[in-house]
Parts: sequence; C-alpha cells; structure tokens
Amino acid sequence: MKRFLFFAIAIFIIQKAPCQMNRLSEQAGNVVKETTIDGGVEFKLSNAYARILAYNATTIRIRVSKTAFTDDRSFAIDNLKPTGVLQAIKGAGNDNIYKTDSLMVRVHTHPFRISIYNNNNQLLCADESTLGISWFGNQVSCYKQLNSDEKFIGLGEKTGGINRRGNFYQNWNTDAPAYANNADPLYATIPFFIGTHDRVVYGVFFDNSHKSYFNFGGGADEELFHFGADDGEMNYYVFGGSSVASIIKDYTTLTGRTPMPPLWSLGFQQSRWGYDNQEQLLTIAKTFREKKLPADVIVSDINYMDDYKVFTWSNKYPDVKGMLGQMKQMGFDMVTIIDPGIKVEKGYTVYEDGLTGNHFAKYPGGKPYIGHVWPGRCHFPDFTKISTREWWGNNFKEAYINRGVRGFWNDMNEPAAWGREFPNLIEFGEGKDRQTLYGVKNAYGLLMAKATYEGTRKGLGGQRPFVLTRASYSGVQKYSAQWTGDNVSTDEHMLLGFRLLNSMGVSGIPFTGMDIGGFMGNPTPELFLRWLSLSLYSPLFRNHTAYGYNYREPWLFGEYNTEKIRAILEKRYQLLPHLYSAFYQSSQSGMPINRMLPIDYTYDDYVYNAKYENQFMFGDGLLVCPVTSTQTVADVYLPSKENWYRLSSDKLYAGGSSYFVECPLEDAPVFVKGSSIIPMQSTVQNTKEKGDGILYLHIYKGSQPNTYTYYEDDGETYQYETDSYYRRAIAYNPTANTITLKAKEGNYASKFAKVKLVLHGFESNTAKEYGLNDGEMVMDLGK
Ligand code: GLC
Repeated sequence: MKRFLFFAIAIFIIQKAPCQMNRLSEQAGNVVKETTIDGGVEFKLSNAYARILAYNATTIRIRVSKTAFTDDRSFAIDNLKPTGVLQAIKGAGNDNIYKTDSLMVRVHTHPFRISIYNNNNQLLCADESTLGISWFGNQVSCYKQLNSDEKFIGLGEKTGGINRRGNFYQNWNTDAPAYANNADPLYATIPFFIGTHDRVVYGVFFDNSHKSYFNFGGGADEELFHFGADDGEMNYYVFGGSSVASIIKDYTTLTGRTPMPPLWSLGFQQSRWGYDNQEQLLTIAKTFREKKLPADVIVSDINYMDDYKVFTWSNKYPDVKGMLGQMKQMGFDMVTIIDPGIKVEKGYTVYEDGLTGNHFAKYPGGKPYIGHVWPGRCHFPDFTKISTREWWGNNFKEAYINRGVRGFWNDMNEPAAWGREFPNLIEFGEGKDRQTLYGVKNAYGLLMAKATYEGTRKGLGGQRPFVLTRASYSGVQKYSAQWTGDNVSTDEHMLLGFRLLNSMGVSGIPFTGMDIGGFMGNPTPELFLRWLSLSLYSPLFRNHTAYGYNYREPWLFGEYNTEKIRAILEKRYQLLPHLYSAFYQSSQSGMPINRMLPIDYTYDDYVYNAKYENQFMFGDGLLVCPVTSTQTVADVYLPSKENWYRLSSDKLYAGGSSYFVECPLEDAPVFVKGSSIIPMQSTVQNTKEKGDGILYLHIYKGSQPNTYTYYEDDGETYQYETDSYYRRAIAYNPTANTITLKAKEGNYASKFAKVKLVLHGFESNTAKEYGLNDGEMVMDLGK
C-alpha cells in the first residue's frame, strides 16, 4: 500500500510539475455574443466577459473578467451606475462601432480589441493589435499601442521624471522611510495617468486595488505599453475630454473632489516627532507669537499618547483641555497623530471594544491578526466594514474633539508593521464581502482616512476637520490631505518633493505637502530657508522632523535667518486669499493647486524637459521654479506667448523662452503671468486675525482678457454648501484697461471692507483704494 501511495504521489508530481513550470498567457478571445445593457454593451468572449459602459460623453468604462460579472465594487467611486449613453452605430466587417456625443469606441471582434477616437476621428488610445487583454494565472494585463511621440504624466506619488515614458512602476503601498530618489513603490496607489500624442490627450484610471503595474514602454522596445494587476478585473476608465483640465474634471467627477479645507489648516504648521509634554507645546506656541512668526498649528506626534495607545493621552499632558484653551487664545489649532495599530492590552478600552465589536482584521479561521508597531503587539481595524469605520470615527469625540482638537493626522496606514510585509492571507470583511489583504492593502489608507473624516466631521458638529494621511488610493481627496512621508534633508529630495506634489495634483489630489527641511537629516540653514521659501507655494505648509535630529523651530537658525523666515511666513499669509480661491476652484473642477506645467502647456515639449520639469503653477497666474539651496543662478523656462513678471521685482520677460535668472536665497524664482489677478491680504499672525480689512488685488498688465474667481467663506463650517459664501468674478480687460468686480454671489459678507488695486507694468503704479460694494464695480487702471 505504502509503495502504491509513493508511486501515485510521484506520478502526480511529475504530471503537475511541467504544467506549473510552463504556464502560458491566456487571451480574452473573440466576441461570441453581444447584448445591450444599461449604459452600454456586454460581450461574451471566447475566454472572458466584457462590458463597455458610458458614464458621460467623455468617460467610457471597460470591464473584462474571466468569469461572468456578479457584483461591482470600487474603493474609489461611490456611485458606479453608468449615467451616460452609448449608442451602437452600424459597423463594418469585424468592427462594431459605438458612440457617445464626444467619443467613438471601435470594437474589433476577432479578436476582441478596443480603440477610442474623439469626434474629429483622431485616435486617443487603442489596444495593441496582437496582445490586447491577457492573463497570466490571475494576473491581468492590458496592452496598448504606443505612439512615437507619446508622453505620460500622473500615477500620483511616484518618483522620477514627470514624463513616465520608458519606465516601470508598481503600486503596493509601502512604509518607505528615507526613500531613495528613485524608490518605487512609496506610500500611495493612484492608478490614473494621462497620455498625450499627436496633439491629443486622454486619461486612464485602472480601478483595481491589487498590486498593480504600469509599464510605459520600458523593456518592450518602445513598441507598446501596458498596465495590469496581480488579481481582480481588468477594470478601467478612459477619459476623452479635449484638455488635461477636462480629463481631471471627469476623473474627479467619478472619484470625488476635496471639500473646502478649514482655513486654519492652510496656515503654517509646526511639527516634530519628539515633542513630549504639555508645557513644551505651549512654550513653542508662545514663542511663535513673541517672535512674531505667523503660524496656525502645533502638531502632536506619537509622544502625546500613553504608551502609544491611540485615543489616549500620556500623563505628561495633565490638562489637555486647558492646554488647547490656551492655544486657542493664541490663535493656534492642534493636530494629533493617530496610527491604525491598536495595542493588545487587557483593560485598554479601545482594544477591548474592538474585540467585542469584531472590528479587527483576522487570520483565516477568525483569530485577530497581530503585527508589531509603536505600541508593540497590535491589532488592526478592518476599515472595509462600515461598522468598524463608524466605531473608529466615534472614538475621536471623547479623546480629541471634546478637548478642542480639530486636526487628525493618519499615519502608518499602508498599513505598516515592523518587518514590512503582512501575510497576504489576512482577511477583511464578512460574508460576500470577505477578502484578503491582497486586494485591500492599497486601499487601507484611503479607508482609514474615510473613517477618520466621516467620524470627525460628525463629531465636530458642523465644523470642518483637517485630515492628513500618508497612504492613499484614488478618491482619498474627498477625505484628506496627503503628505509625502519620510523624506530626507537634501536638495535632491526637495526638488523630488515638488515633482511628487505636482504629480499628486495632476492625479486628483490637490491638498498636498512635504516635510519642510526633510524628515530625516539636519538641513543647513540655507537648505531650510530655500525649502521654506518654495513650500510657501504648496497647499500644506508644514515643518516636520524625525526624532533624534536637530530641533528645527524657525527661530533656531540665528537672528539673521529668523528675519528671512519671518518674511517667508508673512508672504504665505498674504497669499491666503489666492490659495483659498484656488481651493475653491479645485472643489468645483478637481484642478490642483500645484499644477505641473503640462496641465496648461500640454503640447509644449520644453515643459517635460528634465531642466524645467520641477516648475509648477501655484493656482492661476503664479509660476514657481524650484531651485537648490546652493544655486545662485537658475535656468527657468517661461511658457506661453504672454509676458511674465518676476514676482520680487516686476522685471518683465517675454514668454516662450528660457532664461538664466539670479536666485539668491531670499528670492526664489517666482513669476507672474501677464494679465493675472492675484488677490492678497495684509500680514496676519494667524488665520483668525482680520488684518487691515483691505483686499489687495495685484493686477499684472498683459494682452489677454482674463477672469479670476475670487472666493471667501467662514473658513470653518459647511455653511458654504448651502449659500453662505462670497464669490465674485474679477475680470481684466486689457483693451479698456479696466478691472471689473462682478456683483457678489452668495450670502456671506466679505471680511474685507476695501479693495486696493496694486498695479504691475502699468504707467501709474500708485495703488488705488475703493470701498468694497456688493454690486458690480468697474475700476480704471490707467495705461
Ligand atoms: C512615521 C511618520 C513620521 C512620524 C513618525 C512617528 O515615520 O511618517 O512623520 O513622525 O512615524 O510618528
């Protein structure tokens, strides 16, 4: 019997082995049957199933699966119902044709291949003719035709150049301390990119949260590009709007936009890992005020907790409410960090409640998973469950909100544990929603941010929370700002950081920032100054340092540098009306705040050039050129036919050319486009101060008419969602030489009583002041 068993096993292994070793790819096959369904068409293919659905005239979804479609889910998109119309048109030969009002989808039936064209019959993107969609085991890939001049931007937080062509990227959210300049993956998964070739643009969002891959012509002799994932469906959206802006708009129509942030979160944020008692935090806050260094936020890193137990305070903070009361009086808000790891400790309420409520991720069989993080042995909330998200969100009220905290920093949510990788078989969800870490990991940070945002928004009873996250998946912009994790104190990292912010912006995430000065390392005073002076042009303006490195509060670089730092902080506060209006624009269209130049200048090859790829627009009109701390001269490229003005001197430059310009430490190269309108305010020490009551409108003479949307609201509540806002179009007319403030819209009264025109490039540069009326105001600019 034993011998028989031995032979049987041996034969089994011999039969099995070659088949495992020689796994070949499988193809989707030919169209066998076609059926009209809601919003589109379904195909039975010889080896798979496919659906093509319209979400609007410029958004097409393609789903291909080896098995028949059952349910439909997405971590990124709340409403998956196709709302567009896809009309079948008579095709020819092996091609079926479908149309929306703006796009044509051509389906080649033998084999199944898709090509998408715009209304002018220009090809946007097409399946590679010999490969199309294929599987390798469960790994699914889509191969696309690569055009000779094609460039790619996007994918969110990815290192490298802004043009992704010729490179390979993976998405597997990872804790990446002190990441190298070319490290991949980092903390986030944003599987959305924009391609451009032959003066057309299109976008692709591959909504699959498994480990995914994007290969933009690397390793394939530049003949094709492809994207895919280790499991799940080939499920992607093609956006066919005619500009990068319209593609971002369609992408964020699906995945959501950032609501108006609390105004205080746009002020300067002072953070450090290592602040560890109440007195120290208060002293820091007081020092900002004594030294007249404008700031709004003190951040508490992990040391505020009792033994790193989330939702607790250590006894070094004996009167948190009192501390926050004093901070409030000084015009400060507080942000506290929170990690997903919940300490396994009998008697610790959050742990006990989590167990009783069945809120933790589990091994198969039901035992809660344990990983080691700051508190030691930890369980991890199963944020895929609504009940767990609610439980998590409700915990904020007593621990933080009732004590006065309005900002919540979500960290370590890749999720991270010492030793890096969790076992993939850990389970989340219940019943039909049960799934493993394999498909959840990339979305875990998004789900934690969602739970935090929804819980704190409810807990704050009408006030806006500020949520910051390290890990993310597409859609995170609805809930949270994102920062670029554990960067390093070098010039290269600073420049890389701006590319990361710009890439996150074009990928739908407008509220971004990086640790100013670098998280790990001790920046020279020069590097710190440069970093700060460039970061004032980024939405999140936060100074943060790792434990063990030098203290880096702004007054620790000597009196000479403190003055320069003060001027930088003041400029940030002066620019807040512009930044806040840019956030409004973003909330309406998804347009980022930090805009890589291909957004506006898509077909200008110079903007992709490595020499100029760090440059970006900060809202409408301002162009920022990041430079290192050791440079005194910068090579900058000023796109467009319009003239540009150097912000610091009003010196005029013709657009469409590059220039060598001086860039001493106190004067980063920042330019303003001709015809721009930049609203500013007087210097304030924090966002709760009113200032001098004057709205300063900086007008830069130019040749093109221009309209700016100016926006204000109370900066704190959600009343703007009804009608409590103050919005007005401001129009520059270069022919009539006038500025017109169109009548006010909305029901909120501006905090400004007067408007002062500050003219740049005009004959008369004397600032003119007017009382601010609600009706239309036409103001003459002279020549
Ligand atoms: C992680 C965060 C960092 C934080 C530290 C301690 O490394 O990325 O910002 O200071 O944890 O909480």
